[in-house]
Amino acid sequence: MSQRTKEILAKLTLDEKIYHLEQVTTATFVPSLKKPNVVTGPDSALKLDENLVFEVGTSLNLIGAETMIEAHDYYLKNSKNKIPPVFMQDVIHGHRTLYPINLAVAASFNRELAKELAGMAAKEASLDGVSVTFAPMVDLVRDPRWGRVMESSGEDPYLNGEMAKATVQGYQGDMGKYNIAACVKHFAAYGAAEAGRDYNTVDVSERTLREYYLPAYKSAVDAGVKMVMTAFNIVDGVPCVGNKHLVKDILRDEWGFDGVVISDYSAVEEQIVHGAAEDRKEAAYLAMEATLDIEMMSSCYAKHLKELMAEGKITEEQIDKAVLRILDLKEELGALDNSYRTVNPEEAKKIQLSKEHRALARKGAEESAVLLKNDGILPLSKDVGSVALIGPNANTGAIHGSWQCGGKIDETVTVYEGLRNILGDKVKYAPGCYIEYNSEDTSLIDEACSLAENCDCVVLCLGEHQDYSGEGNCRANIDLPEVQYKLLDRILEVNKNVAVVLFTGRPLAIERLDKTAPAILNMWMPGTEGGNASANLLFGNVVPSGKITMTFPRVLGQCPIYYNHYTTGRPKLPEDDYNRVRFTSSYLDIPNSPLYPFGYGLSYTSFEYSDLTLSGETMKAGDKLIASAKIKNTGKYKAKEAVQLYIRDVKGSCVRPVKELKGFEKIELDVGEERTVSFEINEEMLKYWNKELKFVAEKGEFEVFIGKDSNCQAFAKFNLI
Ligand code: BGC
Repeated sequence: MSQRTKEILAKLTLDEKIYHLEQVTTATFVPSLKKPNVVTGPDSALKLDENLVFEVGTSLNLIGAETMIEAHDYYLKNSKNKIPPVFMQDVIHGHRTLYPINLAVAASFNRELAKELAGMAAKEASLDGVSVTFAPMVDLVRDPRWGRVMESSGEDPYLNGEMAKATVQGYQGDMGKYNIAACVKHFAAYGAAEAGRDYNTVDVSERTLREYYLPAYKSAVDAGVKMVMTAFNIVDGVPCVGNKHLVKDILRDEWGFDGVVISDYSAVEEQIVHGAAEDRKEAAYLAMEATLDIEMMSSCYAKHLKELMAEGKITEEQIDKAVLRILDLKEELGALDNSYRTVNPEEAKKIQLSKEHRALARKGAEESAVLLKNDGILPLSKDVGSVALIGPNANTGAIHGSWQCGGKIDETVTVYEGLRNILGDKVKYAPGCYIEYNSEDTSLIDEACSLAENCDCVVLCLGEHQDYSGEGNCRANIDLPEVQYKLLDRILEVNKNVAVVLFTGRPLAIERLDKTAPAILNMWMPGTEGGNASANLLFGNVVPSGKITMTFPRVLGQCPIYYNHYTTGRPKLPEDDYNRVRFTSSYLDIPNSPLYPFGYGLSYTSFEYSDLTLSGETMKAGDKLIASAKIKNTGKYKAKEAVQLYIRDVKGSCVRPVKELKGFEKIELDVGEERTVSFEINEEMLKYWNKELKFVAEKGEFEVFIGKDSNCQAFAKFNLI
């Protein structure tokens, strides 16, 4: 805590300090939006004091450099203490230039790319006056019904941690010009919402929490993230926002995090609805005790902290600490020296959606796409005479992905535009059906079939609408709507050369599609340059290299399904997958294996793995081993490959996952080129939360796997002695 921020604090009255802990919408301070102050709009329910509202420390969610300047000026003009405001925003997968949703970026298995993309978003957002992004979201996810899986990086703690680190570094850089502070969320285990229904109960053991859910938040903290947002859900019966064990004991005391902790939207007050607090006063008390600094969009602190202090339930020191954390962040952001920071309408116009940014977003989309199936029809030849572009996602900008604030549908390149950029008039379009998940309207199919019949090949853009994922957008059915299958089946009757381009914010249960479509290229929700990226991939200008980071089930009934599960006392052997073996952990009607496993993704080329070696058979505590493999590009295209290292702890004081990702490296190989990829294995990587919940590596046998996806087999063993 700096001398300067302490001096600022010393000048504030108790009321002003308490108001500094509140967060309202930035629109509150924009008179031209005609809902200034706390009288109208979402803030009216907060019933904040009309003068003290100008002592509120931070605000959220408004776009545009000019409006931000207006907010800044109006706030400072009316504020007694004139402490610079700080504007926060959900910059989730880009700001004005959108890159693919985060579940897609993770599929790139490319840390550097994730970092670059976040850096681009930070630059665009900072020019619009944003100083903090509510990202990265690193919630581990296993249930594709949950709409927010699109924001996360998937089911693996290690990969989530690596992506968290890269993203935090990308946003924050050295906290210089164009950098913004990151806020990791949602602490903790929001991704475990039961039945994949948003805001629902989370019930995980301390072991599961520590083994799977906490590591990615910890990685963000270790990478220097400036803020942490608590989650809406309960953990062990207590809403996260007032969960002292999580926030005070683990985040602050165990991990040493001394930055700002913010609640999620109105979550302090929602403790009452949860039945965890009797009233707003108790809600404020619980949050303060948990060391929560900023209350977002409810006003329990403003209304009750003073009273709680007078009653001796909380101390002024607690309030001071919280205010100081916010002031310190403002100082670190440079806001105390230059309250405008980098807001710059002129520069914003030049930088946002610039050629360079579009190119980077395109690269992001190209490296995130996953080729799920290819009977050999991809890549398409550019010499093709005509292409029938069909499908509800073929000619719309609504593929850039939901949960973003600055992107615009009409600034997004559609697949139609992308294909025409390569093929010109040779591309003909028909919608084929509507995108609504409940649409049964087949009236557009005939027109699409006649087009397909008269063209050399068909590019069929199926999947979800972008608003079928994101907050509050959960689905109980995750297969394609029947009408899309009808369209596909009818088209296949007249033209077999069909490549399906899939748009989705989540893993889908598309076994039926996998059985019928000759090729499936999953673009996820690919951002502003989605159409160009799709075209480049379809025509082989770029070779797909993405690999899924969340398992695709065959049917929803398999969920939750994830690769890094514990074994059981009666496992079903993989070789029996399609057989019925009663009294094993299995189903009567379907195999155990997923449709596509974690880490899976095809390429237009082929890679051969050979000479898998481990440098020793024993490892002493503190020592290390090297696992390596030769990878050769044996196909016809220069391409990238995500090489994956997995380890299995064969026996522990607690049961261990069947395998765990412990390393990955994305390499690019020319045709015929061979390279050795090596991974270090050290004791730290073997640690886990043992029977006594101590983080230790236990002696014994470990298996080592290197391969192209999580189905790879162990090639070596070693003993930790
Ligand atoms: C979401 C957060 C988000 C916040 C502010 C909430 O509804 O859960 O992820 O950062 O709103 O927009």
